[in-house]
Amino acid sequence: MPSHAKAYEDPGTPEEQSRRQFLANATLAVGGVIGLVVAIPCLTSLVPESILHPDKAGGVWAPLSDADLKSLEASTNNPVKITFEFKYADGYLPPSDDQQFVWGVKFTPEQEASFKANRPDLFGKKSDEVPYPAVTMGFVVFSSICPHLGCRYQWQADAKRFICPCHGSQFGIQGNKLAGPAPRGLDPLPFRDTNGKAEITWIQYKSGTPDRIIVSYS
Ligand code: FES
Repeated sequence: MPSHAKAYEDPGTPEEQSRRQFLANATLAVGGVIGLVVAIPCLTSLVPESILHPDKAGGVWAPLSDADLKSLEASTNNPVKITFEFKYADGYLPPSDDQQFVWGVKFTPEQEASFKANRPDLFGKKSDEVPYPAVTMGFVVFSSICPHLGCRYQWQADAKRFICPCHGSQFGIQGNKLAGPAPRGLDPLPFRDTNGKAEITWIQYKSGTPDRIIVSYS
């Protein structure tokens, strides 16, 4: 047998074997670290900026018009339909406009207490699914998307309830489910007062699940 073949077969002394093992492990570890350093920025670049940093996404907070705010403040036992124009920028795409509407409801202190009692999905054990106050300054703003399969429901004043035209889900003025296949009550959206200006953020929640799962911020 040629001498180089013999050397190839020779596993070496225990010290040589452990040195080789150490070098192999070290190579794998360094390779893994380099892989992570390359992979993490690549993966995060695929996630919209509005999800990573909702407050920095540019235009995610949208102001209420003075007229809408006055209507909301004057409303009693009737939701107010509020339309918004969002300007948002994700990644390297040019800024876009997106128009949405929401339903704003004003509560007296007693109605607010009743809202908190009637919506255990917002104030009970699952309250951490909504990472912001569901009611602010006595107002709650509901997403206009039905939590069943995503149609737009409307307020029916004569029935005094929100009714979805697609499969008949119905909700009370507090967003509590009254009838139909919707797996949860209506989804509240963030609402805030900054220097006298009321603003909201649009959030899309996953449809068709009892749990409230954020899909996107625009
Ligand atoms: S989408 Fe509203 S009830 Fe089905």
